[in-house]
Amino acid sequence: MATPVVPAATFRHDFPKGFLFGASSSAFQLHFCSITDLFGWQDGTDHYHRYEVRKRKGKLSGGKNKEGIAFYNKLINKLLAAGIIPVVTLSHWDIPQALDDEYGGFLSPKITKDFVDFANLCFAEFGDRVKLWITFCGPWSLAYTGYGTGTIAPGRGVSSSAVEDLATRHRLPPDFTLCRPYRTRIHHDALGDPGTEPYTVAHHQLLAHAAVVKLYRKNYQSTQKGKIGIILQQIWPVALTDTEKDRAAAQRNIDYMLGWFMDPLYKGDYPDSMKDFLGCRLPTFTSEESQTVKGSYDFIALNYYTASYVRDAPEDGANEPPSVVTDPRTAYESKFKINHHFLLISHSLEGYSEWIRVYPAGIQEFLVYVKEKYDNPVIYISENGIDDKDVSLSTSWESLTDHRRVSYYQRHLSYLRKAITDNGVNVKGYFIWSLTDNFEWGESTASRFGNVYIDYDNGHTRHPKLSAEWFRVHLLKPPE
Ligand code: NOJ
Repeated sequence: MATPVVPAATFRHDFPKGFLFGASSSAFQLHFCSITDLFGWQDGTDHYHRYEVRKRKGKLSGGKNKEGIAFYNKLINKLLAAGIIPVVTLSHWDIPQALDDEYGGFLSPKITKDFVDFANLCFAEFGDRVKLWITFCGPWSLAYTGYGTGTIAPGRGVSSSAVEDLATRHRLPPDFTLCRPYRTRIHHDALGDPGTEPYTVAHHQLLAHAAVVKLYRKNYQSTQKGKIGIILQQIWPVALTDTEKDRAAAQRNIDYMLGWFMDPLYKGDYPDSMKDFLGCRLPTFTSEESQTVKGSYDFIALNYYTASYVRDAPEDGANEPPSVVTDPRTAYESKFKINHHFLLISHSLEGYSEWIRVYPAGIQEFLVYVKEKYDNPVIYISENGIDDKDVSLSTSWESLTDHRRVSYYQRHLSYLRKAITDNGVNVKGYFIWSLTDNFEWGESTASRFGNVYIDYDNGHTRHPKLSAEWFRVHLLKPPE
């Protein structure tokens, strides 16, 4: 892998006219109100309080939550008044607790009807002002980490040791329970076979997505004139050695993350490598479903943060780490994970943060891959960013002068620009993760991705970091 060249500064005017720059966040990570609440987290960034109301639990009512609608109306109107275009994601790793209790959430095909009802309400209430809609953010995460490794809600598939580890890491009270008895059921070893649930959940997310896109296209698109898509993700795999076997393993890694969703969206069926390996554990689409899923997007949004080395792993599941992993830039420990007969090596490519191995060229490689494999779709980069881990620095200077974050954005933008100019990738926008520090799932609030610092100890006060100023100077549209 070539050492990345330090790029020239990028500015708004380096990108095509109409290119969108933005900052992403998610409702749950700001104010909580769903299955993840009961997964043990009790406090967000106080976003909702600061916006007046906070709801603890969803209800299976079929009615409208007038307070919720008023909250989002006000938010959308304020954004528009400030010259900010709202881009709305309907579901981000999360659903109301009531639906999980009632029928198991995404484990059941019943979810499609409820998701369509919810989307219908959002289109009807907000679609006059919202012109960019996203059905799901990162369906892979809900499927694989919610129902495979159990590290996000609803925590299925988690082994008891992982539960203990979670409780210890977050210093949860001794009477902390993981909400439902099945949380502690071991139905797979986190390093081994994830059973069928992740595939069922992914399948239902795809069907629910397609049904919502169908609804939008039929009832709203011609009048509201918006676009609809989905956010997919990929930790970019770099073959550990330049051999056919490792390159094939890297391709399988893409098949099991991006391709798991993108192949059905593009061609109406799962990747062959998944079908061959998983056999009947992978659900199948009827020909009608396949037709509905195929082409159900106006754009694809992609989250890109990091890369991983990947090498071939024998099917018998041998999990021996490779004897040598040589990269002079990596002093970090390697972690190994057998995952569907490829071995992921969490080996720092440059190495600052625990899971974010900074590899800016990966964003270009990822974009070119999507362009070539999926017929040049319209693409947005919906998330790109880096956290400060364990910065216990209240509002100190170090935390606010986040040069490292600025450099991360700058370098990724530079490769993103190359993808547009050198490779003709049809990228229409770039969003950093995240606007403010927020609740980072398994890391809680210890991991900070924001351009704005939140002082959790002092009334959730906000302090813009250097990165916020960089964003303003480099990327914001000057006032007319
Ligand atoms: C992706 C997820 O969409 C978001 O919720 C999360 O906070 C960021 N990655 C950072 O891990």
